[in-house]
Amino acid sequence: MGSPQRHAVGAAAEFLEGAIVPRTVSGVDVILIRRLGQIQCYLDQCSHQPIKLSEFGEITAGRLVCHAHGGTFDLDSKGRVVCDPPVDALTSVECAEVSGQVFVIV
Ligand code: FES
Repeated sequence: MGSPQRHAVGAAAEFLEGAIVPRTVSGVDVILIRRLGQIQCYLDQCSHQPIKLSEFGEITAGRLVCHAHGGTFDLDSKGRVVCDPPVDALTSVECAEVSGQVFVIV
């Protein structure tokens, strides 16, 4: 496996507070979320079952709710579970916002 690379995924303005923005980067499906101005990135898969959060997820009050079974993740603590049935946190993916561009590192 090669070392992680930085991939541009769009202009910062494309990533709005409260939106779940899906991208595929080097074959990896991810979602990007802006929370309190900061960009966050996670795998586009619920930690409960292989369900796409870009399809079943919704952001409300700083939390990402997976409507497949109601699992809820806290976006202020890297996707920690705050409502089961999921047990594990979301899988974080490294990302950065630099000079008006958003990058995902995979
Ligand atoms: S697949 Fe997300 S809560 Fe079950």
